[in-house]
Amino acid sequence: MNTAQFLVKSDLVFVDKASYTWQTPSNIALVKYWGKSDPQIPKNASISFTLNNCHTKTKIDFTRKCQAELDSAFLKEVDFNLFFEGKEKEEFKPKIASFFIRIQEYCPYIFEYQMTIHSENSFPHSSGIASSASGLSAIAMCLMSLEKALNPNLSKEFINKKASFLARLGSGSASRSIEGPLVVWGNHPEIKGSSDLFGVPFPYKVHPIFENYQDTILLVDKGEKQVSSTVGHNLMHNHPYAANRFQQANDNLSKMATILQNGDIAAFINLVESEALTLHAMMLTSNPYFILMKPNTLQIINTIWEFRKEHNSNICFTLDAGANVHVLYPLEEKEKVNQFIAKVLAKYCQKNQYICDATGLGAKQLQDFI
Ligand code: PMV
Repeated sequence: MNTAQFLVKSDLVFVDKASYTWQTPSNIALVKYWGKSDPQIPKNASISFTLNNCHTKTKIDFTRKCQAELDSAFLKEVDFNLFFEGKEKEEFKPKIASFFIRIQEYCPYIFEYQMTIHSENSFPHSSGIASSASGLSAIAMCLMSLEKALNPNLSKEFINKKASFLARLGSGSASRSIEGPLVVWGNHPEIKGSSDLFGVPFPYKVHPIFENYQDTILLVDKGEKQVSSTVGHNLMHNHPYAANRFQQANDNLSKMATILQNGDIAAFINLVESEALTLHAMMLTSNPYFILMKPNTLQIINTIWEFRKEHNSNICFTLDAGANVHVLYPLEEKEKVNQFIAKVLAKYCQKNQYICDATGLGAKQLQDFI
């Protein structure tokens, strides 16, 4: 695997101060990634819709350390402050610190700067929506803006590729949060340019039915997950169905690539729901086993199935590693499905809360944090 392409050249021209703000989205996988080897190499390829409204906004102020600091023995310590939603958050720092350690080989310039990070999410705090994909991709984009300032020759294409590569080292699915509306991560023979190292935009023409696809996220359980995705991925190592699952996911990605081009919505629904239930079946059949769905997750699934049958609708669901349900439907059904969600499904959500979202185009640079 060619990771050397992501090393920086030695003749960087350092700037004393810089500040960059990026907004990057969350994403929802259609074919799921569950199982990895070191360093964050997926056991199968995956594909996701990039979201639009669920995003993280992050500003990093970079101030170059003075010569005395640069000469000191502590040079090899990444120096940063972290503010989340306006407040200093010591408890979030270890995760970010270990991300910086993981990427140090590819971004050695981070040791030259004192960094102040300000970050906020558009979605409610502890809504059960993972913020690692949007959070880490936003930091990766800020770092790539700095790298571009130190080495102006970088192309936009390389910046996106390296940002995805860096984000992946923080959280695998974060590699799919740089571009949109459909991103593949993981080497797959039928997806041109695909790689285990970074996400790539789906390279073929997508049928209009999947344009501006809608995703309403039903917040069933906003609590902390009992089992982190890191633990879940690790449980795939000795999992009795792992080999079959990885093969199936790659086969499903081939099928999904065809469906996305020919617009076979019935096949799309079948594949997306089967992927969601298979992901949770892997959790049910791990050892130790665990269940992330809640009773209301099942209520919602059954109610969606009834609605689909009765109204000849193309609504379907998918799940992340949690109890929340992503309700997916074409733009043309927006009014009908939104009424159904408000009248029928909202009551299964904590405090009737849900988030209306749709596919988006990925990372956006902002002028400032406000
Ligand atoms: O990126 P991680 O390590 O949080 O894993 C995410 C895995 C799933 O969200 C369950 C599936 C996926 O492909 O996004």
